[in-house]
Amino acid sequence: MSRIDTLLGRMTLAEKLGQLTMTACSHAVTGPVIAGNTTRAIIDGTIGNLLNLVGAGPVHEMQRLAVEKSRLGIPLLIGLDIIHGHRTLFPIPLAEAGVFDETLWERTAREAAREGAAEGLAMTFAPMLDVSRDPRWGRTAEGPGEDPWLNARIAQAKVRGFQGSDLSSADSLAACAKHFVAYGPVTAGRDYAAVDISERALREVHLPGFEAAIGAGVATLMPAFTDLNGVPMTAHVLLLRDWLRGEMGWGGVIVSDYNAIAELIKHGIAADLVDAAVLALRAGVDIDMMADAYRKGLPVALEQGRVTIEEINACVRRVLRLKDRLGLFDDPYRRGASPEPATAVAERHALARDVGRRAVVMLKNERDTLPLPAVVKTLCVIGPLADASTEMKGPWWGAGEHEPAVSVLGGLRAALPETAIRHAAGVAIESDDESGIEAAAALCDGVDAVLLCLGERATMSGEAASRATPALPGRQMAFAKAVTARAHDQGIPVVAILFSGRPLVIPWLSEHADALLAAWFLGVEAGNAVADVVTGLVSPSGRTAMSWPRAVGQVPIYFGQRPTGRPMNPADHYTSRYQDVANTPLYPFGHGLTYGRFHYDALQVVPRHAGERDTLKVSVRLRNEGARKAEETIFLFVHDKLSRVTRPLLELKGFAKLRLRPGEAGWVEMDLPAAELRYLGPDLQSLFEAGEVEILVGPSADPTALLRQSIDLF
Ligand code: IFM
Repeated sequence: MSRIDTLLGRMTLAEKLGQLTMTACSHAVTGPVIAGNTTRAIIDGTIGNLLNLVGAGPVHEMQRLAVEKSRLGIPLLIGLDIIHGHRTLFPIPLAEAGVFDETLWERTAREAAREGAAEGLAMTFAPMLDVSRDPRWGRTAEGPGEDPWLNARIAQAKVRGFQGSDLSSADSLAACAKHFVAYGPVTAGRDYAAVDISERALREVHLPGFEAAIGAGVATLMPAFTDLNGVPMTAHVLLLRDWLRGEMGWGGVIVSDYNAIAELIKHGIAADLVDAAVLALRAGVDIDMMADAYRKGLPVALEQGRVTIEEINACVRRVLRLKDRLGLFDDPYRRGASPEPATAVAERHALARDVGRRAVVMLKNERDTLPLPAVVKTLCVIGPLADASTEMKGPWWGAGEHEPAVSVLGGLRAALPETAIRHAAGVAIESDDESGIEAAAALCDGVDAVLLCLGERATMSGEAASRATPALPGRQMAFAKAVTARAHDQGIPVVAILFSGRPLVIPWLSEHADALLAAWFLGVEAGNAVADVVTGLVSPSGRTAMSWPRAVGQVPIYFGQRPTGRPMNPADHYTSRYQDVANTPLYPFGHGLTYGRFHYDALQVVPRHAGERDTLKVSVRLRNEGARKAEETIFLFVHDKLSRVTRPLLELKGFAKLRLRPGEAGWVEMDLPAAELRYLGPDLQSLFEAGEVEILVGPSADPTALLRQSIDLF
């Protein structure tokens, strides 16, 4: 008999339900808190899992209670949201997605896992794999952006990074693929609102990231808070039990979101906690996070014959198996047993700086405003986000709440010690007070350049942080206009640096700023990362993983739209278009300028006739016609021109990077397995179809900037 079966045989019902319960400690509470004495319950064996506990001391103290004081000595599973770093905060996931580097996506997760595991944690509620095409939704910041193919690549890299090569090792964490599934298209971008999408959209857009995570061996998964086409995900039998456990054959642990089982009552599909517990258990949810529905409801349901002890045992077995895989039975203190090397913090900061500067997206750079000239006598670093180090950390600060972070002002002062830097906030991020505008704008007089730091508070994105108007809040636009007018009157260039957890609607800035950087929330090294880009120490290479709308009314906006029978034609009234704004985004997916200037030509695809088993070799030549060394990101899209169902106008299938010196030319080659051109036919079955497919390569999803070549599939 296995250790788990032996244990299961000795457990009381209360102890079993304890293993299916996860309780929050005091850190980062995002919902109601279970009343009662957690330590007593751990000793009694009626709580088997914790979240939101920070620090090796407290983690080991709780673990000791479970292992040494409870009857069966079953170790606790202790998890925390490590979304973009534990103590060392890295750029938010949306920013990191735009780095387009799988090694790096994996590395930041690996480092975050090491740091979290060094404090005794064994699980993280990440990666977040919700495709988002609506910048109103605050959780856009936590995810991979708008594209399903990119999402799948990130999913694999993150699972590998968090879990390492051996889940039981002292520096590995169980990853959690969340939020399953299709949380991104919440109605009107409002968090927690219902989701109503087609099965095709579900399969084509929202499931691939989870399939990829499962393929990479993800240990746990969290259903979304939301309902999908009428069924809350926490109780979604078809997707959780039939698809995930059945079709995919996945045997990992499903942990509910915070209080989500109890929320089935408010969703209107459960009459009470007993009902809610039955629905979640039936769907296959193993761990109840913070609803206390399993402990309270399942004994009653069992007595009423609405669930069986076998169903409960199956969940307990999965939880115990996970604890076993994590090595917790063999040595519950292995994580956090020895201090990290003294160099670890500095190394992580160096990594955060590297990712940060590679995540900055240069949206605009008129007349080579950036980088700043080698000698800058006076600089005006102005705006409410200029000296806002706390905001730089972003919305999910994990355990990094009290860690220092570098502001833009701090970064520039360090980078340009000889430059006189003037600074004023001018306005607050969100207030209506305009009284500081004039004096702050006056600081621009006579300087060499103005760096205008604008944007959101970090907590304006993330969970429960939807915005109906995702533009600059407060009086920042008035401030930007006053500063720009004053600077431009004197011929002084204005560089706007935007901090946000989402694409912002900024048509005025886009037109009037001389240069525009999307600096997202870059974490502890944000200011240094921005300074590295602005001073030209590195060329910007970040690309936006979401389209930037011109107007909120364009949302949802994404490059993978399907064709219409009446494509936009300005000369024809009855075509698909807006009367007041162009159809195109302000900045498309993949957009991001560098300090180089890349010319693409000579696209070749070999073979031109391909069967399903062939791999297409797609190559293109680039020449850097600019004056500076730079790294270019090259995208590979496809378009199936004639198929049995309508296909997106562009589908991402690959990317590559090339670094070239001025005047240098080079080739990139990308492999495209023809099997990746399969699609879901009219009956939603996967189909490989003969016919013409267009291969498109270029610097972004702007169709006018792509080279194209047709091939024939047979
Ligand atoms: O992991 C999170 C989830 O993303 C949102 N609700 C709270 C959970 C635990 O903190």
